[in-house]
Amino acid sequence: MREGQAPVIRREDYTAPAFWIDTVDLTFDLDPAKTRVLNRMKLRRNPDVATQALRLDGEELNLARVLVNGQGTSFKLDGGHLVLENLPDGHEPFELEIFTTCCPAKNSKLMGLYVSNDSFFTQCEAEGFRRITYFLDRPDVMASYSVTLRADKARYPVLLSNGNLVDQGALDDGRHFAKWVDPHRKPSYLFALVAGQLVAREQRITSRAGKEHLLQVFVRPGDLDKTEHAMNSLMHSVAWDEARFGLSLDLERFMIVATSDFNMGAMENKGLNIFNTKYVLANAATATDTDYANIESVVGHEYFHNWTGNRVTCRDWFQLSLKEGLTVFRDQEFSQDLAGEPSARAVKRIEDVRVLRTAQFPEDAGPMAHPVRPDQYIEINNFYTVTVYEKGAEVVRMMQTLVGREGFTKGMSLYFERHDGHAVTCDDFAQAIADANPGSALAVLLPQFKRWYSQAGTPRLQASGHYDAAARTYTLTLAQSCPPTPGQPHKEPFVIPMGLGLLAPDGRELPLQLATEAAPVPGHRTFVVTQASETLTFQNIDAEPVPSILRGFSAPVILDGGYTDAQLLTLLAHDSDPFNRWEAGQRLALNRAIKYIAEDNQGTRTLALDEAFIEAMRGVLRHPTLDAAFKELVLTLPAETYIAEQLDVVDPQRIHAVREAMREQLAHALADDWQWAYETHRDTGGYQPDPVSSGRRALAGLALTQLCLVARQSGDTVWPGKAYQRFKDAGNMTDRFNALSALVSSGHSLAAQALPRFHALFKDEALVLDKWFALQAGAPDRGGNVLPAVRQLMAHPDFNLRNPNRARSVIFSYCNANPGAFHRTDAAGYVFWSERVIELDALNPQVAARLARALDRWKKLAEPYRHAAREAIARVAAKTDLSNDVREVVTRALAE
Ligand code: TRP
Ligand code: ZN
Repeated sequence: MREGQAPVIRREDYTAPAFWIDTVDLTFDLDPAKTRVLNRMKLRRNPDVATQALRLDGEELNLARVLVNGQGTSFKLDGGHLVLENLPDGHEPFELEIFTTCCPAKNSKLMGLYVSNDSFFTQCEAEGFRRITYFLDRPDVMASYSVTLRADKARYPVLLSNGNLVDQGALDDGRHFAKWVDPHRKPSYLFALVAGQLVAREQRITSRAGKEHLLQVFVRPGDLDKTEHAMNSLMHSVAWDEARFGLSLDLERFMIVATSDFNMGAMENKGLNIFNTKYVLANAATATDTDYANIESVVGHEYFHNWTGNRVTCRDWFQLSLKEGLTVFRDQEFSQDLAGEPSARAVKRIEDVRVLRTAQFPEDAGPMAHPVRPDQYIEINNFYTVTVYEKGAEVVRMMQTLVGREGFTKGMSLYFERHDGHAVTCDDFAQAIADANPGSALAVLLPQFKRWYSQAGTPRLQASGHYDAAARTYTLTLAQSCPPTPGQPHKEPFVIPMGLGLLAPDGRELPLQLATEAAPVPGHRTFVVTQASETLTFQNIDAEPVPSILRGFSAPVILDGGYTDAQLLTLLAHDSDPFNRWEAGQRLALNRAIKYIAEDNQGTRTLALDEAFIEAMRGVLRHPTLDAAFKELVLTLPAETYIAEQLDVVDPQRIHAVREAMREQLAHALADDWQWAYETHRDTGGYQPDPVSSGRRALAGLALTQLCLVARQSGDTVWPGKAYQRFKDAGNMTDRFNALSALVSSGHSLAAQALPRFHALFKDEALVLDKWFALQAGAPDRGGNVLPAVRQLMAHPDFNLRNPNRARSVIFSYCNANPGAFHRTDAAGYVFWSERVIELDALNPQVAARLARALDRWKKLAEPYRHAAREAIARVAAKTDLSNDVREVVTRALAE
C-alpha cells in the first residue's frame, strides 16, 4: 500500500505551478461507504513556466472518468498522481472534469473526507484535499469554489460548505441538496464541507462599518448549552481584529462546527471553521478555567486566520509560520487585551513563555530541531510544531518590539496592501513590517534579523555585570552563542531585543543613562544586541545594582544571568517587571533542584529547602497586593521537563523524586499559609471564567493540593476529607477537578472513591471523561503503579484508540506528560510506547507521529534509560510498513 522511499521536499526546489486553476465546481453525493465527487475545473497554463504535463495530486481515490473540454482523453496514474500529457496547447482556459469516489466511513486518518458520529467532516490542511479529488493541492494555486452537496435529508439535514448559501431544495428518494459559493479565491487546503444532524447557536452582529453578519456555532443536538462561551469569544474576536488592526469580517456568514474526532485543535477553513469539541464546548459544570481560556484563544486564532492565512496565504508549506507564527502572536495579543489589567496580561505572557520553554526549547535542542522556516521535510504534517507556531510567534513579537506597537500596526496594513489575495513568503512579511518603519531597528537590521527564520536552535545569552564604584558606572557584558542543530553546525549572531532595568540594592528602579547619553532616558528600555559579544555601560550609579535582564521575555533565548541567590531574592521581592519577578522565583527553585539532583544522596527525604527560599515563597503567597493568579505561577515549581533541559544527563526518576520532595517541603513549611490561602481564595459564588476569579480558583486549587500532600505524610484525614467534600459539592468543574486531582496526586485512599464517582457523574460527557483518563495516566508514580493503571485504562469500555482526544488522554498523558512514570528502569514504559506508536500508525499516522516524538531527547538520558530508549526507537524503525510521518520522526531520532 505504501509507496517505497518518501522523497525529501526542499525549500530551494520551489517552482511555480505549471497550471493555474481559476474555478472549481464540486458536486458531492454524500454516502459513508461510497461518496461520489464530480470535480469540474477551469484551468490554463501558467505563461511563466515552460510547457509541461499536468500532474494532479490524488490519494486513496477511485477514478471513474476524466474529460477535457467534454471529451475523453488519455491519462496516466503515476505514484498517486493523475498525469495528463495531451492537453490543449496555448494559454487559453480549458475545462477538466474528473469523477472519483472515496470511502469516508473507512477514513481513520481523519484527513480528507471522513465520518464522525454519523456526520461528514473534512480536514484538508495541509494535503488532505487530494484525498477528496485530484487537484493541484498546493497553497499557491488559488481558485474560486462553488460546491453542491447532496445527501439523505433525514440523516444529514444540515449541509455546509465555504462562503454563501445560494440555493437549496429537495431531491428524489428523500435526498436534498445545498449549493454554496465562496466569493473569495482560496487554496485547496481551506476547502471544507460538513453534513449531519447539527444544531446552531446564532448571533447577528453589525460591524463598525455597519455591515450585518450572521455568526453560527454548530454542535450536536444536546450540546447547545455549551456554546455560549465560544460564541462570545467569536464576537470578541471580530471586534478585536477591527479595533486593533482595522481588519473586518469579509463574509455575510461565519460558521464554526464542532467535531469530537479531530487530529488537532481547530481549522480555519474559509467561513467554515471546524473545531475539535475540546475548543468549543464549555459550561461551568463540564469545563475548567483552562478550557475556557483555551476556547477563547483557539476561537480567536482560527478567526484571525481569516486575514493572516486566508486572505494572504502561504506560497509553499515551508512558509507555514507566515500564517501560524503571526496568528499565534495575534491570538496571544487578543487574550492579553481581553484580560485587560497589566497583571492579568503578565500572567498570560508567563503562561505563553512557559509553553515555549517546556515544549519548544526541547524541540530546538533535539533531533527534530528546525528553523521557524524549515528548509526540508518528508512529511509536512510533522512540521506543525511548537517551533513554527510558538517560536514563530516570538519572532513576530520581536518585530513588534523593534518597531513599536503602532509601527507594527502600520506594517500589517502595508502587508495587506501589498499582498491581499496572494500566496507569499516569510520574507514578504518581514519586508512589509520593515518598509512601513524606515529607520527602525528592524529596517536597519533586517537581513540579520531574518536569521530567526533561517537558523534553528535556542540562542544563549550570557550576561555579566561589573560595578566600578570609583567611576560610578555599571558595565553589562553580553555574549551570545547558539549550539549546532541537525544540518547547521555553525550559527551567526542573532538580533536580540533585550528589555532591561537596573534595581538599586533596596529594590528601587534606577534611571538608565548610557555612558553616551547626556541624561537618563525614562521609562521601559529595550536594547538591541547584535554582536557575538558587546557591552553596555551605564553612568551615575551609586551602588552595585541588580540587573533585570530580558524583561517580558523580550527574545526566545536562554539567559545565563550569572545571578546570585541574593540578587534573585531582590528581583523576586521588587522587580517592577512581573515576568522577571516570576522568573526570579523559578530560578531560585531551579538552582535548588539542580543542586539536589547533583548531590549523591539516594534518599531525597533528607533534602532540606533553606529558610531563605521558603521565606521568599511565603512572602509571595502572603503578599498583600499581588494577584492570586500570579502567586499560583510563582508557587508552582518548574516542570520536570524544564528541569531536565538544564541538565546534560537526565535521570527522569531522580528529577521526579527531587521535585516531589521539594513540593512536599513547601507544603509542610508553608502549611499554615496554604490553609490561609485556601480559606481566603476558595470561590463560593456563581461561576465566572474571568482572570480574577480563575486566578483565585487556581491558587485555592494549589493550596488544596499542598494541604493534601501534608496530610499524606502526617496521616491527617482532615484535608483529604475537605478535598473529598469539595469534590462532591463544587459548583463548577474547576473546583471539582482540582479537588479530585488533589486527592489523586497525593495518593490518598479517598481517590479510589472519588474516581468512580466522577466517572458515574460524567459518563455521557466525552470531554470530561478525557480529563478522567488523563488524570490517572498523568498521576505521580508510586512504585511503578502508573503503567499497569494505564494498561487497564486502555481496556476500559470507554477507551477508543480511533478517537484522537481519547488516545491522547491516556497514551500521551502517560508517555509525553508523565516522565517520572514513563521512564522506568525495566523499560516497560518504552515497550508500551513502541507498541502504541505501531498500533496507532496503522490507523492515524499524524497522531502516531506526535506520539513517536515522546523519545526525542533519548540521547540525554542516563543509563539504563538511554540504551533501552534507543532500542525501543529502533524496534519501531525496523517496521517496514511505517507511514512517512512516523518514519521521518524515528529516522531523525536515530541519526547521529
Ligand atoms: N491550521 C490549523 C491551525 O489553526 C492547524 C491544523 C488543524 C492542522 N488541523 C490540522 C494541521 C490537520 C495539519 C493537519 O493551526
Ligand atoms: Zn493556525
